Amino acid sequence: MTRTLITGGLVVTAAEEIHADVLVEGGRIAALAAPGTQQWTAEHVIDATHKYVIPGGVDAHTHMEMPFGGTFAADSFESGTRAAAWGGTTTIIDFAIQSPGQSLRAGLDAWHAKADGKCAIDYGFHMIMADVNESSLKEMDQLVGEGVTSFKLFTAYPGVFFSDDGQILRAMQRASGNGGTVMMHAENDLAIDVLVQQALERGETDPRYHGEVRKALLEAEATHRVIKLAQVAGAPLYVVHVSAREALAEITRARNEGLPVFGETCPQYLFLSTDNLAEPDFEGAKYVCSTPLRPKDHQEALWRGLRTNDLQVVSTDHCPFCFSGQKELGRGDFSKIPNGLPGVENRMDLLHQAVVDGHITRRRWIEIACAAPARMFGLYGKKGTIAPGADADVVIYDPTAQQTLSAATHHMAVDYSAYEGRNITGRVETVLSRGEVVLDRGEFTGRAGHGAYLARGISQYLR
Ligand code: URP
Ligand code: ZN
Ligand code: ZN
Repeated sequence: MTRTLITGGLVVTAAEEIHADVLVEGGRIAALAAPGTQQWTAEHVIDATHKYVIPGGVDAHTHMEMPFGGTFAADSFESGTRAAAWGGTTTIIDFAIQSPGQSLRAGLDAWHAKADGKCAIDYGFHMIMADVNESSLKEMDQLVGEGVTSFKLFTAYPGVFFSDDGQILRAMQRASGNGGTVMMHAENDLAIDVLVQQALERGETDPRYHGEVRKALLEAEATHRVIKLAQVAGAPLYVVHVSAREALAEITRARNEGLPVFGETCPQYLFLSTDNLAEPDFEGAKYVCSTPLRPKDHQEALWRGLRTNDLQVVSTDHCPFCFSGQKELGRGDFSKIPNGLPGVENRMDLLHQAVVDGHITRRRWIEIACAAPARMFGLYGKKGTIAPGADADVVIYDPTAQQTLSAATHHMAVDYSAYEGRNITGRVETVLSRGEVVLDRGEFTGRAGHGAYLARGISQYLR
């Protein structure tokens, strides 16, 4: 069995920070020991002196090749997982999509056909339920048994992904019986659609109106509603891409009542704002996503939520559309701009910058980016930590390197960076995925097909 020894680094997990040598054998972490105290031999030795040794990032919310608004997210599973590796992420959980009138199984099969044999890092699937009916409800039980243990439903996108309250309740009831987790996109789109039409009739067609009509109160209202539906069903709830402080307040209240309600936010809501949506010459289209970016003063509430554990996870919601030819579909009508931002490559660095800026601690960085998403979606122990028996998904991170984020240097298949010109302290140096070096000090050494499919357990917050 191949052995790799990582020497002299500061091992940072969600639980502790220790100077240790790390022995990797057969793709797993074999042992940790105080530096220089063991006479381990290994084929490869990686000197991590002055570096952090951290678990590979777990991005629990990506959309590679996602169909949206007549086009497809620009990253394939091949390019998107390669970019993830460049950014220190070694696991993604993407969303397989059920088409209306089709089974969950057909959607899952279609996503396996896109991803299998293509990924550079390990991957799992959530299931988007776009057609809740007797048959798809029954299928939920089978999927949970097979390792697809989470289901996203939407109070948004009428006619595409939207479920009504009765359908949501029924899916939650099923999840409460089978151990699945319902993930909710919570925005009141029936009301938002009225505001969209009224805005367009007033000639308000620029990207910034996307942020104005998708009101924080309508995110909060839908968040409140799905919390109450989950409470009635006796089901846990994970609210995705929380952007409004009013929605976070609903989650905080529910958690204070002791309900199993969890929340995710994304780097775009922590680092970008409606100022970006208002950029001139249609540049604001680069920042159109749903839930939308909010005014800057929402950011402090989100950081606080991450510190107080009212928000547990930071995922990217990586759903990239090129400015040229894709975002441009919405020139003259903001409602036709494909929704989504690139970011799978940037998350670990942006969150390290948050450590440098004093928003979160180093251990909290690893918790929200690695350990908590793994735990939330039934992967912890194998993923999300550095401990004997865990997969050797390890990042050697240089905390003092300086870099500038840019489309000119990133590896995502998209023609702009949402963080163009942003200076970051810290950089991924070397990445191991199950013991294989996939990124070696600025050189990609991985391959499409190395990534293995992950059948997941039920949420470890519920066991
Ligand atoms: O704008 C977004 N978030 N696009 C991806 C689809 C979704 O709702 O997560
Ligand atoms: Zn969503
Ligand atoms: Zn999403």
